[in-house]
Amino acid sequence: MYRSHTNGELRIENVGQEVTLCGWVQKSRELGAMTFVDLRDRYGITQLVFGEEHIKTAKNLGREDVIQITGNVIERESKNKNIPTGEIEITVTELTVLNKSKTPPFTIENETDGGEELRMQYRYLDLRRKPLQNNLKLRHRLSIEIRKYLDNINFLEIETPYLIKSTPEGARDFVVPSRMNPNEFYALPQSPQTFKQLLMVSGYDRYYQIVRCFRDEDLRADRQPEFTQIDCEMAFVDQEDIFNTFEGMITHLFKTVKNIDLKGFPRIDYATAMKQYGSDKPDIRFGMTFNYITEETQNKGFNVFDQSEVVIALVAKDCSSFTRKQLDALTDFVKRPQIGAKGMVYVKYNEDGSFKSSVDKFYSQEDLKAWADKCDAKAGDLILVLSGDKTSTQKQMNELRLHLGNELGLRNPNEYAPLWVYDFPLLEWDEDNNRYHAMHHPFTSPKKEDLHLLETDPGKVRANAYDMVLNGVEVGGGSIRIHDKAVQSRMFDLLGFSKEDAQAQFGFLMNAFEYGAPPHGGIALGFDRLCALFGGQETIRDFIAFPKNNNGRDVMIDSPSPISTEQLDELNIDIKIKEEL
Ligand code: AMO
Repeated sequence: MYRSHTNGELRIENVGQEVTLCGWVQKSRELGAMTFVDLRDRYGITQLVFGEEHIKTAKNLGREDVIQITGNVIERESKNKNIPTGEIEITVTELTVLNKSKTPPFTIENETDGGEELRMQYRYLDLRRKPLQNNLKLRHRLSIEIRKYLDNINFLEIETPYLIKSTPEGARDFVVPSRMNPNEFYALPQSPQTFKQLLMVSGYDRYYQIVRCFRDEDLRADRQPEFTQIDCEMAFVDQEDIFNTFEGMITHLFKTVKNIDLKGFPRIDYATAMKQYGSDKPDIRFGMTFNYITEETQNKGFNVFDQSEVVIALVAKDCSSFTRKQLDALTDFVKRPQIGAKGMVYVKYNEDGSFKSSVDKFYSQEDLKAWADKCDAKAGDLILVLSGDKTSTQKQMNELRLHLGNELGLRNPNEYAPLWVYDFPLLEWDEDNNRYHAMHHPFTSPKKEDLHLLETDPGKVRANAYDMVLNGVEVGGGSIRIHDKAVQSRMFDLLGFSKEDAQAQFGFLMNAFEYGAPPHGGIALGFDRLCALFGGQETIRDFIAFPKNNNGRDVMIDSPSPISTEQLDELNIDIKIKEEL
């Protein structure tokens, strides 16, 4: 038996027992003739006391050495209230060093001194740190509760293949050459979309899978090239059924994992979300919705507003005392190239009821009062205004709103505000290629009432598509699918597929639709994003045990990497071409 207890287990009740513990040396310190060592494992830390008989060995113990000790549990003289084992310590009678450790390149503490790159390179050491262990424990707990919830309502977990062929979901595929089929390639799935639809045709009316997906896209804090989806599909359902089922799941997760009762699950259609927040994933933890003051601002000689399609105002509550410096910083923020506004107008609604604005030359106190009234601003508030074409201004205003939300501390990571955004457009126009793209994916069904527009004004057609949004993060997306061969084939037409291309790429699905495809729909939630949100963080990387860095590299195993000429030969990949490249 290596150990009788873990390092997080012993309490005052255990005083008097002889125990055997194993773990890593967190730190040691000498106090007179005694050496104190903090012994760590994933359950916690226990303090060890070495007396004179072990002093020599104890002195030689280094950080991260793996040891086994036997000793007696005693009550501590100076108790540590911060840890659960803080009332006891172990007087060591036997010590075995199981393995010495080199000095780690950074400290294994909650707040480490190691830089990002170094920690990625020694990920196995970084994973010893408590914050990361807590993240992975949270991930485990969530996956267990997801399975419990879905199992309870008859969902079956079914695995789908990883070696498939390209499915068009917007990103590039990672491809895998086939040795047995020279010059042919598999693609790793961007999602199991077509397979889960085939499972509906096969009659497995409630499918789920916690599944790895692969997308060769540019990386950001909330994107990894391989990430995990909670992928779900249901037959004989409409949008309402999907909303209820997955609201239920999120509510269950918050209750069981965080003991939080969600306050509600509002629904906003896409057009309203864009109008009020300039975003299809609004953070509704705080107000500050957009006010359109286009009419109120016209024909007063201020050309910028006169020439704008829209003039949009935001009200920052109780911020009329913002200094010149603060306002300049906000202007600089919106003028950054990533945001791209040309400038920002402000109006201070002073406590005494007067107005001070950056456009006083053009607008009288009465004019500014009219703006304030339209925005429902009160004395003491600050009004910030952007203008231009509708789409860009909404986008810029969204950035400004989120920035102010951060600055004013309105985005509390411990508050959770989920919502559904629904009725997304079916198609989006691709200027570069002069064609439509499916906004969600080509299997999403158009709304019945918009079907007539498919021929005349396809860009206006709304889809039975929805996203689940939590604190401004898109945690999931899904749709009610097309289950009719003719509609699916028309959709491929609209997306610019020739009959032959559609048959070659999706013949299997369209053929399946001829054998009794039930009405169906589903959703996939980004599991990594959900974990990060539950952990109160924006970056998903530290909720994945072995993630890639921002260049898509695993610096620990040094991948991707070249492969040998023999391997290339076997795969029939022409080395000469490779060398020329
Ligand atoms: P979608 O492409 O919207 O839908 O993906 C679903 C959810 O997966 C998460 N996600 C990601 N998470 C981390 N890194 C990434 N690179 C990444 N890309 C996406 C997001 C997103 O909301 N087959 C459809 C689902 C369906 O229609 O049922 C699909 O994949 O949280």
